[in-house]
Amino acid sequence: MTGTSTEPADNMPATYPPSADFAATANAGEELYEQANADRLGFWAEQASRLHWSKPWSSVLDWPGNAPDSDYVAKWFVDGELNVAYNCVDRHVEEGHGDQIAIYWEGEPGDSREITYAQLRAEVCQAANYLTELGLRSGDRVAIYMPMVPEAIVAMLACARLGLTHSVVFAGFSPAALRQRVDDANAKLVITTDGQWRRGKAAPLKDGVDEALSQPGHSVEHVMVVRRCGNDVPWTDGRDLWWHDTVAKASDEHSCTGFDAEHPLFILYTSGTTGKPKGIVHTSGGYLTQTAYTHHYVFDHKPGVDVYWCTADIGWVTGHSYIVYGPLANRATQVVYEGTPNFPDEHRHWNIIEKYKVSIYYTAPTLVRTFMKWGHQIPASHDLSSIRVLGSVGEPINPEAWRWYRKHIGADSAPIVDTWWQTETGAIMMSPLPGVTAAKPGAAMAALPGISAKIVDEEGNEFERGGTEANGYLVLDEPWPAMLRGIWGNPQRYKETYWDKYSAQGWYFAGDGARYDEDGDMWVLGRVDDVMNVSGHRISTSEVESALVGHHKVAEAAVVGASDETTGQGIVAFVILKSSAGEAADSLVNELKAHVSRDISPIAKPREIHIVPELPKTRSGKIMRRLLRDVAEGRELGDTSTLVDPKVFEAISAAK
Ligand code: WTA
Repeated sequence: MTGTSTEPADNMPATYPPSADFAATANAGEELYEQANADRLGFWAEQASRLHWSKPWSSVLDWPGNAPDSDYVAKWFVDGELNVAYNCVDRHVEEGHGDQIAIYWEGEPGDSREITYAQLRAEVCQAANYLTELGLRSGDRVAIYMPMVPEAIVAMLACARLGLTHSVVFAGFSPAALRQRVDDANAKLVITTDGQWRRGKAAPLKDGVDEALSQPGHSVEHVMVVRRCGNDVPWTDGRDLWWHDTVAKASDEHSCTGFDAEHPLFILYTSGTTGKPKGIVHTSGGYLTQTAYTHHYVFDHKPGVDVYWCTADIGWVTGHSYIVYGPLANRATQVVYEGTPNFPDEHRHWNIIEKYKVSIYYTAPTLVRTFMKWGHQIPASHDLSSIRVLGSVGEPINPEAWRWYRKHIGADSAPIVDTWWQTETGAIMMSPLPGVTAAKPGAAMAALPGISAKIVDEEGNEFERGGTEANGYLVLDEPWPAMLRGIWGNPQRYKETYWDKYSAQGWYFAGDGARYDEDGDMWVLGRVDDVMNVSGHRISTSEVESALVGHHKVAEAAVVGASDETTGQGIVAFVILKSSAGEAADSLVNELKAHVSRDISPIAKPREIHIVPELPKTRSGKIMRRLLRDVAEGRELGDTSTLVDPKVFEAISAAK
């Protein structure tokens, strides 16, 4: 985390109230809070009724809370049935919007496609028909390992249409990471592409699937391949299928049925404090209700008018909730971009905004800081006047970046919505509401209408709003519709991770620190556990440590997240070599970095690796990460009195 100072810079306003013009036409008004406060469940029922239900629910919520033996699994819209894909696609076509553009797709090499809702429906139906022909049935799992191509969205929606549970694996993850996820969910099908464009070059992707499946003992029956780059790919007859030979030839008529509101829509893996990534399970009715609700109010989205662009990848939850489900449920016209922000040059995002007249732009603080580094003259050379709402997600946004974002991208007038949420929460939980909230740079401000959050201490004592400004823990003290329904195959871990800490109260522990300011507004401060946040990506210290000790020359490793000006945090590793490893050399450091990158993903590659003779440990053998963080950030060392051997730092500093 960087720049948590809340002091306004000289002559800078501390708050940014909405303009009268914006407020006059805003979707949200102050009364939304009042309505939700007066009747929380009634409020959610009203939000859910904006969707199409094939069978109405009998009750809004069934929540075991902290009853003895509670499994902490909520049921929302009990007995209700809906088809998520029908809600995201068919409904809009049937209501006469078939010709509206759903997706302006912009390929990395400069190719593009415009896809209307009618076309999207045809493609989703074709995929649904072919997946049915392949023998896939409701409840089966499908892994999707694809870059940002339209077929990835079609694949997700086809799964949703058939009640197949998708597990999207970020295409930057390694074959080993893919295999772990395929095995954990017992996926029957993997959908991928021949390759992915990276800075003008076709990088292989299908090869990674082959590698992942090279060892026997997996559950995959077929691999479906979308042709994107035209590169040669190895082929396994009988198992591998080209999308263009199969899906594209299937009928584009498909009638769907509703599924239970609690039918599992997807599994998405995310890093936890310890162990393997957790498969976060999301279901259908509550998830779609809250993603659609938040997309409508937080972004002030006007269907058929706005052009919306969320720059996330579908491999992360932001892509699931704010590229696929929320926006499509709300009949958005959106930009989907395949590539990186600086290919072919640093003007790419602004060219896209100009080309499509993007009015709502949702990105991550790390990218805003990168834009700052590139210089404001780059966006200044474009017409960005279409922009009217800016969003931020993934980590706390430092006030300096917030102000830059508003001034240089938002013409000093666009409201910024700083949205706090998690893979587990499924949808936005805290954010200013544009048109209502006088936003403060760097603050997520308050829970949205219908959501309840508190700041508490270790024992669960509640902080008073506007009382102390001390740091506490963020908890969610009421269930919410898009909440996770568990960790795939591991109810025990689900309970331990999220509910045990405040089991007496039945509160969800978010793993984030937070504080109230003097006005009672909330500031989220970042993780309080061993989860790092690098460029808005969650990576656990233990994952990187286990990758490092998986290298044959490494005896022991300790990893910390050190603050980084651009990426929020950078990964710093301290490594002890095996005595057989020989002399430590720069080439070994590079080899270890490459090893982590291959084993997990380039996003997990350490910024620095220090080969050290020892690691600081407490008498009980715990690595003192706090002290290593001090070293990594170049600070004076904190209290070293609990260390077995305080002199260890002389050796570490000498090695650094
Ligand atoms: C952090 C991403 C402060 C937080 C949607 C959380 C934020 C983790 C914000 C979840 C924000 C996300 N302000 N911190 N606006 N948004 N975070 O699961 O630490 O990839 O717990 O979900 O990101 O990351 P995840």
